[in-house]
Amino acid sequence: MTSDEITDIEVKLLMEGIYQVYGYDFREYAEASLRRRLTQWLTGSGYSTLSIAQSHLLRDRLLFDKLLQGITVNVSEMFRDPSFFKNMRELVIPHLKTYPFVKIWHAGCATGEEAYSMAIILHEEGLHGRFRIYATDINEEVIRKAQEGIYPLQDMQRFTRSYQHSGGSGSFSDYYTARYHHAILTPSLRENIVFAAHNLAVDADFGEMNLILCRNVLIYFKLPLKERVLELFDKSLTPGGFLCLGTKESLEQRTIYDNYEELRPRVKIYRKRYEK
Ligand SMILES: C[S@@+](CC[C@H](N)C(=O)[O-])C[C@H]1O[C@@H](n2cnc3c(N)ncnc32)[C@H](O)[C@@H]1O
Repeated sequence: MTSDEITDIEVKLLMEGIYQVYGYDFREYAEASLRRRLTQWLTGSGYSTLSIAQSHLLRDRLLFDKLLQGITVNVSEMFRDPSFFKNMRELVIPHLKTYPFVKIWHAGCATGEEAYSMAIILHEEGLHGRFRIYATDINEEVIRKAQEGIYPLQDMQRFTRSYQHSGGSGSFSDYYTARYHHAILTPSLRENIVFAAHNLAVDADFGEMNLILCRNVLIYFKLPLKERVLELFDKSLTPGGFLCLGTKESLEQRTIYDNYEELRPRVKIYRKRYEK
């Protein structure tokens, strides 16, 4: 089966049904990526068409949960795009250090690597005990994995290199214990992180954040959903707060753009102005 064989109407009907039955809103997700993911899922599902699968998906929660794992792209890594984290240390942390307490929201945190990377930076920069990270994702299965903080040991070499390129001055191996084929992150890193399910398409804002990171999430959304989510972030950020997007994402041409200044070209770190 190729993606051409899933018709537009099948995708639309299924997404509408999922929204009505489960409240997950994928109606405004970018079509090409959604079709690719649905095709992959269908191939391994045993159903010959999406229409036949639909009646089962809307009645069987466990089957839907499996589809959900297939629809959301959950890849992440520690210190992903190391230069981003280097810029975070240089451009954002000095401001955060002047606050008595810092509130941070990682929206679309996947399996948690980004939130743990941030916790490491904040510890190294002397903010221990003065911050709380809220790390959220639509997918409850990845939130469970994020809470565990256990990653394949084979990834640690790559994460170590990224940590060093991001300006890390310590020894990355101090942040985990190797056990068999896994690296278990130091439990103290988790102390200031709250992991929770949150759906950017339908759920409400989080108040009074000083820093919001939503990287490599908006690329999967169509324009109206991008706009909704950015409005949500704008409402959730304090004046002077920071908004960080992924390398392929931008605030340019978006409605909230004028409320922000870009701190350095192409770095995708924006600061909310004090006055509009
Ligand atoms: C590619 S991962 C990005 C992970 C991390 N931010 C990074 O850059 O490494 C995208 C994440 O967005 C989540 N996501 C997709 N739609 C979402 C929604 N409507 N609300 C919240 N999270 C969503 C997915 O479940 C997935 O874990």
